[in-house]
Amino acid sequence: MTNFSAVDVIATKRDGGTLSDGAITWLLDAYMRGDVADEQMSSLLMAIFFNGLAPQELRTWTDRMIASGERLDLQGLSRPTVDKHSTGGVGDKISLILAPLMASCGAAVPQLSGRGLGHTGGTLDKLEAIPGWRATLTNNEIRSQLEAIGAVICAAGPGLAPVDRRLYALRDVTATVESIPLISSSIMSKKIAEGTGALVLDVKVGRGAFIKDPARARELATTMVTLGTSHGVATIAQLTNMDAPLGRAVGNALEVTESVEVLRGAGPEDVRELTLGLARIMVELVGLDVDPEIKLDDGSAYDVYRQMIQAQGGDSDAVLATAKFRETVVAPRAGIVQSVDALCVGMAAWRLGAGRARKEDPVSAAAGVLCLVREGNEVEAKQPLFELHADDVEHLVRGRDTIKDAFVLGDNAVTSSPLLIERIEK
Ligand code: URA
Repeated sequence: MTNFSAVDVIATKRDGGTLSDGAITWLLDAYMRGDVADEQMSSLLMAIFFNGLAPQELRTWTDRMIASGERLDLQGLSRPTVDKHSTGGVGDKISLILAPLMASCGAAVPQLSGRGLGHTGGTLDKLEAIPGWRATLTNNEIRSQLEAIGAVICAAGPGLAPVDRRLYALRDVTATVESIPLISSSIMSKKIAEGTGALVLDVKVGRGAFIKDPARARELATTMVTLGTSHGVATIAQLTNMDAPLGRAVGNALEVTESVEVLRGAGPEDVRELTLGLARIMVELVGLDVDPEIKLDDGSAYDVYRQMIQAQGGDSDAVLATAKFRETVVAPRAGIVQSVDALCVGMAAWRLGAGRARKEDPVSAAAGVLCLVREGNEVEAKQPLFELHADDVEHLVRGRDTIKDAFVLGDNAVTSSPLLIERIEK
């Protein structure tokens, strides 16, 4: 292969030029081999942050990210494969309900997930609140569980798009995370390498989301849909509102409990609405003629959930960890809840112990926040608004300090914005 010069590649992007397929391929491969230094890659990432990547550049960049590792082979399963990716929200426990729901509709859902960092929780952290549940599966175990049960939620192994780990670590310390081509290639390389045939993207927008501006969220969604489609993965994105937390529960065991409530036909209406909205898109993507609402209401999805948890060593009937310290936060006066701020609630749950600041930190299963009111609710003075859960007093105090800014009380009636904002497809 032609040898390029890292300095020339950086200078081309710095000056707003276009990188050839050969230059991108060489660069990412050389970076993996250790022939391009972290400081050179950091400079290129900053040049991409400012000057972007054209569609062909992004396609090749993503191809090389996928080729940096293994690609799971899910061909030959008796069910069509379809997965969901969410860009991350507060109280977002949808995967726990959606994966078994889709399996009960006849699909196979290979949900290879990550752990949470910062104010948004990770699906694996939530499931690890279930005694015995195991996040790590071999590729053979993933395949046989998909065939037998139709749903797997497990850790994405280190073999999937390994260059992403190194690029993400650099982006994290060089202020280059918030770049649409870099986010899109990072997310989509892992999803494409996972081998799913179809994908729905839940792109969150609002106060508690990674992206606050609807126009940027739309651009991110469109870029990811184009990447998925051009790699042969039928992809549709749904922009969804993340101004307020999803459901009432924020925290690992609290969210598992709420997911089970929804799977048993109860639970908060917004969690049910989003789960069914995404399930309808997934059913359509793989051409299944089933109404997911029926499968949720007749208990089929709950049956699959129990099988899915048990197949990975979890006790689906176990009583989950509860917090040693609980405290309610009450309304300072009577009024109407004008807003509940997802970011603030997410930060409070994190400080209560539900999340981690660094990858290697442990998380508490029991810590978190229960939101007892929603935007638009009328409340009396001293009515409980939130319940804080923590394992020790230090965490409780930190959560208490944060939650006080999580709501606005006023006197005006409030009309809530829709949860499902816009569908984006090719
Ligand atoms: N999630 C990812 O996997 N990658 C990003 O770049 C951002 C969010």
